[in-house]
Amino acid sequence: MQTDLTTTNITRLTMSTEERDGSPAEVHSEAPSETGTPEPDWSVSREARGDRPYKFGQRYLKDEESVWDHNAWDHVEWGEEQRVEAEEKLAKQKEAPVTEFDKKAYMADPARYWDLFYKNNKENFFKDRKWLRVEFPALYEATKADAGPVSILEVGCGAGNTMFPVLGANENPDLRIFGCDFSRRAVEIVRESDQFDPKHAGASVWDLADPEGNLPEGIEEHSVDIVVMIFVFSALAPEQWKQAMKNVDRLLKPGGRILFRDYGRYDLTQLRFKKGRLLDENFYIRGDGTRVYFFTEEELHDIFGERFEVVKVGTDRRLMVNRQRRIKMYRIWLQAEFRKKE
Ligand SMILES: C[S@@+](CC[C@H](N)C(=O)[O-])C[C@H]1O[C@@H](n2cnc3c(N)ncnc32)[C@H](O)[C@@H]1O
Repeated sequence: MQTDLTTTNITRLTMSTEERDGSPAEVHSEAPSETGTPEPDWSVSREARGDRPYKFGQRYLKDEESVWDHNAWDHVEWGEEQRVEAEEKLAKQKEAPVTEFDKKAYMADPARYWDLFYKNNKENFFKDRKWLRVEFPALYEATKADAGPVSILEVGCGAGNTMFPVLGANENPDLRIFGCDFSRRAVEIVRESDQFDPKHAGASVWDLADPEGNLPEGIEEHSVDIVVMIFVFSALAPEQWKQAMKNVDRLLKPGGRILFRDYGRYDLTQLRFKKGRLLDENFYIRGDGTRVYFFTEEELHDIFGERFEVVKVGTDRRLMVNRQRRIKMYRIWLQAEFRKKE
């Protein structure tokens, strides 16, 4: 289902910086560059890449002429013209999709490409997610000394850039945080890290969409309070979504939550894909062989809503500006929370 970005009801999950506590948050660029290499995308500004902290939630573009005055703007709405332009880019991509032969090869062993990614990038690619505290306060509530037993599972934990900040803040003797990834190399990186404290942490290889419904080693059925899914669901093929939901459902305790953040439809990184990258509607193969899907709010309602209560789904829309090169970059991320019914 296609979202009309001009009419989407935006329920932002994040409050502005002033509304929160006046503390700075960080902007984030959280995936391998979609320009076709696993390198950071040097063509975009440092803010857009996420190299430098930037206070967001407080700058609104009221007058189009002021666009070049700052590096970033919040809650930027799209006009009809932009939507049409985006659709034209997607139509162009459809003229030259990935060949059936290549598609088969890419779909056969997706974990291999992520393994290669971590072999090349080690733990250096994704930035530690300092914004987690602001976006997902539940993770930090679990770290308080008196929070009691809490079990967190991060699916697609990569090099631990979400796990480790939480672990670093932990004062809860009864916190257990577990990371799973289907890349063996990623799990090795997590286990070998100085920040990995086996008293509170665990890590194992697991496929979120395991077709046989196996659970990660070391995790009991219905034992997890919070499942974290940050930029992992987009790596699945649409035909795997159902199985992934089933597997997560088996892991969660009744009343347990899913904290979700991922790519939104028409994000800059989607519109940048050129010829020979489109695998399926809104689903692409990057130059390094990793896959990425771009969601709408409605799709998340449909996919997760079938099994879970939808607590919130919102769109985080930001305009990043490279003032020197006069380039505008529209970033669109989706953020959501779901709850397993009691
Ligand atoms: C874009 S990275 C995000 C890493 C991490 N969540 C973070 O925020 O830094 C996506 C991660 O999901 C993992 N992944 C992709 N498909 C997966 C699957 N089916 N099961 C488990 N992990 C998967 C990849 O190996 C990769 O580490």
